[in-house]
Amino acid sequence: MRIDVVSIFPSYFDGLTLSLLGKAQDSGILDLNVHDLREWTHDRHRTVDDTPYGGGAGMVMKPEPWGEALDALAPDTGRPTIIFPSPAGEVFTQATARELATREHLIFGCGRYEGIDERVFEYAAELGEVRLISLGDYVLNGGEVAVMAMVEAIGRLIPGVVGNPESLVEESHEDGLLEYASYTKPSVWRDREVPPILLSGNHGAIAAWRREQQVERTRARRPDLLDD
Ligand code: ADE
Repeated sequence: MRIDVVSIFPSYFDGLTLSLLGKAQDSGILDLNVHDLREWTHDRHRTVDDTPYGGGAGMVMKPEPWGEALDALAPDTGRPTIIFPSPAGEVFTQATARELATREHLIFGCGRYEGIDERVFEYAAELGEVRLISLGDYVLNGGEVAVMAMVEAIGRLIPGVVGNPESLVEESHEDGLLEYASYTKPSVWRDREVPPILLSGNHGAIAAWRREQQVERTRARRPDLLDD
């Protein structure tokens, strides 16, 4: 998969060279490229924002650098998925991650300030499939942290990125429930015992116990997940 990220703070993404996503880039499974939006400015101050038409607080990102960035990154053939992180977008879930992990080319455009000139989204729709995606119902200072989270959630679902694919199956949200509790050695730690069933060797009973744990935890912590 190819991923292009456009941001005025490209160094945010240095962390994506670490760990599993770093290895995926080394092995060629993931081709991740981070670009500075200011590469596509032409004035001495490398300006990316201006005051909003109609007045109001804050600054708006100018359309011209975004237009040039999209022209440079969208291929002549094929339609990339162009994602703009925004608190005004659809909410990102594991299902979104699964869907986006099947794409060949993702372009992420990180907005800052009060947002990006609306015409950029219209123009982007001529080049690819546009998605405005929110990490959740809270406001970040810009899209960078949201894109880091999305790239990690999507990237680990690309076949070959996570060494043992079975570990992807038993996670929170993969089956609509929260994950069960995990334990390792020692079997007694500071007077706390591991639930005896896990030491029983009875795999059927263990699976049933874990399932029950998942349902109980989901009911207690995230009853909204059980609603539908
Ligand atoms: N930019 C600012 N807040 C955001 C959020 N909650 N999700 C995605 N992008 C954002």
